Amino acid sequence: MITSSVFVHLQRPDNGEWVTVGRYTLTRAEKRIERSIGKFIYAPSYLQAGYPWVIDPINLPRLDRAVVYTAPRYDGLTDVLRDIGPDAWGKLLIQREHHLPATAHEFEYLINASNADRWGALTISTTRNPNPALASSPKLAKIDELLEELHLMAGQKAPKYPALRKRLIKTPSLGGARPKATVQDGDDYWLVKPTIATDVSNTALLEYATLKWGARAQLNMAECRLYQDHARSAVLVKRFDRTGAQRHMVISGASLLETEYPASRHYGGQNQARWSYPLLAQALRRIGAPKSDLNELFGRMLFNALCGNDDDHPRNHAAIWNQQERKWRLAPAFDVVPNISDMPRRLAMQLSANRWDISQEALLADWRYFGFESIIQAEQYRNQKIKQISLAAKVLDDIGLPQEQVQLLRLHMNKTIQRLT
Ligand SMILES: Nc1ncnc2c1ncn2[C@@H]1O[C@H](COP(=O)(O)OP(=O)(O)OP(=O)(O)O)[C@@H](O)[C@H]1O
Ligand SMILES: [Mg+2]
Repeated sequence: MITSSVFVHLQRPDNGEWVTVGRYTLTRAEKRIERSIGKFIYAPSYLQAGYPWVIDPINLPRLDRAVVYTAPRYDGLTDVLRDIGPDAWGKLLIQREHHLPATAHEFEYLINASNADRWGALTISTTRNPNPALASSPKLAKIDELLEELHLMAGQKAPKYPALRKRLIKTPSLGGARPKATVQDGDDYWLVKPTIATDVSNTALLEYATLKWGARAQLNMAECRLYQDHARSAVLVKRFDRTGAQRHMVISGASLLETEYPASRHYGGQNQARWSYPLLAQALRRIGAPKSDLNELFGRMLFNALCGNDDDHPRNHAAIWNQQERKWRLAPAFDVVPNISDMPRRLAMQLSANRWDISQEALLADWRYFGFESIIQAEQYRNQKIKQISLAAKVLDDIGLPQEQVQLLRLHMNKTIQRLT
């Protein structure tokens, strides 16, 4: 048995100081068929100080030193620690750099990613020093170099800017499968997602157009910008988990839903039972999000159906702690991209219990979880949102998407409206 342990630190939402919030210990199974055991406990010093912030209101909800939280997913990695580790893209970089086998434990990826660029307000360290690694992100002004280097990395080519390459390899912890990096512009941090060589169309432009489309339909979308020059395009998505040096507490939809994403060998496919909008709405309600967020989630589900985004999996949703309101809130929508090569009839998450299909019945069956007083109110909200989304589609023409894509999206939207009304 190998036992490893790390301190978990939190940047306080009220004054930005770093505090040790707890300790995570992993006892790794020696055989692949066995499960490892991971445990989290809140630090006595954190409890004594009386800090009010739980770092995961669903899975680590009680500020109590007697409670040892055993991690049921990710082969023993605690959910919120999985949230601050890399996904496919970051894992690939770490595997190459540290010669990790494809079977490496999630924990290896967590500790080999630097704290400098982690998602949210948590860091980890082997000592009590929170070690937030304040090294600054590449600046927005250097974005062309950054895009060139990301392009070379995605193609497994030698670096052109070795110092930048080194930095990007050290800070791959933001999730997702596609190449990406963070740039800083004053107090704002932007997630840069380029169109890559293997994309069949300009994915960055499509993501940009879709985020604008949702925003114009009065949905809460992450703010975005487009970078385009003769050689490359990228969408820049403003990070909602950063304001200057302050990191904001966040939690993924996967953690809120008590499900794995992506699912591991132990978990298999069966956990998709919990990939569900009404379950996410219930979790949001449980952690104190207001009714308006539940309505918003319903609107988001509707928008995903209308725009054809079937990559709306649990890790593509999140909640964020709002210190002014002292509340968890639904985070802005991100990673919303229509599946233009195969316009979908189903979503990744259930619209209502056991219903993934995009239909009126599935959309409305679980209306009561989305903050509505009656089904009539849910229908009125649906109708109003459909009108807004439909009108807002004009943005697609203005942004300069290829005409055939705009036609495809409009056709899909109109067919879907018929199915939903
Ligand atoms: N605007 C944002 N602010 C803060 N965090 C974000 C933002 N956008 C994305 N993230 C975080 O970064 C992760 C990766 O981003 P994103 O989902 O856009 O990448 P992707 O590679 O397209 O993902 P996927 O594998 O789902 O296709 C997200 O899961 C989320 O945790
Ligand atoms: Mg994603």
